[in-house]
Amino acid sequence: MKNRWVLITGASSGFGAATALAFARSGANVVLGARRLAKLESVAEQAREAGAASASTHVLDVSSSASVNEFLAWTQTLTPQIHVLVNNAGGALGLDPVATGKDEDWEMMMQTNVLGVLRVTRATLPLMVRFATGHIINIGSIAGRVAYEGGAAYCAAKAGELQITRALRLELSGTHVRVSTIDPGLAETEFSFVRFKGDEARAAKVYDGVTPLTAEDVAEAIHWVATRPPHVCVDEMILKCTDQAAIHKVNRKPKT
Ligand SMILES: NC(=O)c1ccc[n+]([C@@H]2O[C@H](COP(=O)([O-])OP(=O)(O)OC[C@H]3O[C@@H](n4cnc5c(N)ncnc54)[C@H](OP(=O)(O)O)[C@@H]3O)[C@@H](O)[C@H]2O)c1
Repeated sequence: MKNRWVLITGASSGFGAATALAFARSGANVVLGARRLAKLESVAEQAREAGAASASTHVLDVSSSASVNEFLAWTQTLTPQIHVLVNNAGGALGLDPVATGKDEDWEMMMQTNVLGVLRVTRATLPLMVRFATGHIINIGSIAGRVAYEGGAAYCAAKAGELQITRALRLELSGTHVRVSTIDPGLAETEFSFVRFKGDEARAAKVYDGVTPLTAEDVAEAIHWVATRPPHVCVDEMILKCTDQAAIHKVNRKPKT
């Protein structure tokens, strides 16, 4: 990845931040976007210390086309080419059944996980296609493959991400741009804290008695997928912790 340009959305925490550091360690230029600029700048500082060729930050809200277009205009002041795009920004809000679901939660999940991926991809494709190379790595979820109670909107959003990935791979056939999805299960990041709107105790309970994936586990998978030879495309990867045999089958150690 030496001197390659890697654009990562949602790089201010969790998988995105860990992915920035994984690519930094292999000498890439990392271009980082998210809404919280101070957090992004701290990730960029760590990326420079880890060996990034460069680390650049700019505020990005994937729920706004204007913000995405401005972000990509700024990106083009740094480089004409993006080698790897990691569409990672997203997450869940609430765990309400449909009967009591909230419009604002549903709308935000669709805006980030579905429309955000479409917007950022549309704006980045010109920086790949004309160079006849590139790799788009979308971050889905096992929630996009198996539904669970209280997850209707999030599962729908991640199922949407999976189908966007599949459609895009067909559309880009012959361009030499690869398209992959990496779909993790339980991973301990800010994900549950955000889902439960700052309720730390409820967020911690999600990981009670389990050894979940870490952000670094997922980042390592993203880096591995991106570093296969150009003729190899990892279409879809499901990554779960050993304690999670299936979405509802989680091995929790009893409290001692
Ligand atoms: N953790 C899990 O168990 C798990 C499992 C499967 C899939 N995922 C998916 O993995 C991805 C990363 O999640 P994570 O676990 O690393 O959670 P996280 O720690 O909460 O990170 C989410 C990132 O997305 C960014 N983000 C959210 N809304 C955004 C917006 N509108 N515009 C730009 N950036 C936005 C956040 O940054 P700002 O708040 O600074 O904008 C943050 O950097 C998400 O797509 C999530 O759905 C997570």
